[in-house]
Amino acid sequence: MTQKRILSGVQPSGKLHLGNYFGAVKQHIALQDEGLCFYFIADYHALTTIQDPQVLRDYTRDVALDYLALGLDPAKAVFFRQSDVPEVTELAWILGTVTNMGLLERAVSYKEKIEKGIEASVGLFTYPVLMAADILIYRSNMVPVGKDQVQHIEMTQDMAGKFNRAFRQIFPITDYRLDKESKVLGLDGQKMSKSYGNSIEIFAEGKPLRKTVMSIVTDSTPVADPKDPDRSNIFALYGLFATEEEKAALAARYRAGGMGYGEAKQALLEKIDGYFGPAREKRKQLAKDPATVDDVLRQGAQRARTEAQLTMALVREAVGIKARSVE
Ligand code: TRP
Repeated sequence: MTQKRILSGVQPSGKLHLGNYFGAVKQHIALQDEGLCFYFIADYHALTTIQDPQVLRDYTRDVALDYLALGLDPAKAVFFRQSDVPEVTELAWILGTVTNMGLLERAVSYKEKIEKGIEASVGLFTYPVLMAADILIYRSNMVPVGKDQVQHIEMTQDMAGKFNRAFRQIFPITDYRLDKESKVLGLDGQKMSKSYGNSIEIFAEGKPLRKTVMSIVTDSTPVADPKDPDRSNIFALYGLFATEEEKAALAARYRAGGMGYGEAKQALLEKIDGYFGPAREKRKQLAKDPATVDDVLRQGAQRARTEAQLTMALVREAVGIKARSVE
């Protein structure tokens, strides 16, 4: 029986926050039991925005630690660094030859990035081609994605179809599954996002975490007055961690009056600590043991590379580049 292949790339971009976790990471980890997962750290892609080697190395290691601490199981999922499988850049080149300029010119994410001031490099422009290569080189059936990445998956489907028609039926038409719409609100009540500076980091703890949680913006209803839980971002965040009964209990306290927001923040803080406590410990252990993390990534890369080389042997043969024997 061939297992469904699930793939996702994670851009190394610094500290994970609650929005990242509940929007994507949690589902990624859960998918380990639904198929054969290929999860990689997209360091080639990160070069379109990070031009500091130490930052790239640090962020890359951070993603590895984060995912392993949060439950990625290397016995189930193939976990690796994108750049450890350089064949993907060869496939990107070949896919580029069946990709219309017009297709890439319509990429919303590219336009948004240059509006934000990111340099309009060729790499940024062809970002979706490398992403298609990521997906197709492992002949992935499904990619879990956020809304912002859907267009890239549609481009991948387009490239796969064109390649298959021009040469030979090698690639599947990859499906996507939308990540949960992230309802995680930030400190200011807007959607939690690194770029808004309103995040709660999941691996923060102690005083800094306390300070962040206590800085959640509230209205100025006096302590004695009843408060509306449904208009409180503290309550919304609490709901991510609490059982239905706990939510009902806290909602009742909001409505009764006599409870200040500080107390609700304290309750939230305890939930965050309880939920991420074990992952924080695991992350600290792993951080002390870089050899183990390197080993996981190396073994992941080996498995991934074997797959990639199989695909590339077919691709080279199909396009008429001499099929190299697998190394
Ligand atoms: N573009 C994705 C992001 O910014 C990261 C990524 C790179 C990716 N290659 C991928 C995601 C392949 C899914 C599949 O989040």
